[in-house]
Amino acid sequence: MYVCLCQGVTDGQIREAIMEGCCSYREVRETLGVASKCGKCACLAKEVVRETLTELQTTQAALAYPAEFSAA
Ligand code: FES
Repeated sequence: MYVCLCQGVTDGQIREAIMEGCCSYREVRETLGVASKCGKCACLAKEVVRETLTELQTTQAALAYPAEFSAA
């Protein structure tokens, strides 16, 4: 789905940028140019960034402590 129509940025591209090393909304904006024109997409873009970072942290936490999860 398109998040930023001005720059043609999709939610998939935002997720990909985070997987490739962006760790904040600011970094995603600098990398993809999202929300750099009219700015109407800023809220949605931030939400996608927040969601993706949370998913990533949850996944990493599960990988970091596998014994804790399997012991329960
Ligand atoms: S829709 Fe993203 S800057 Fe306009």
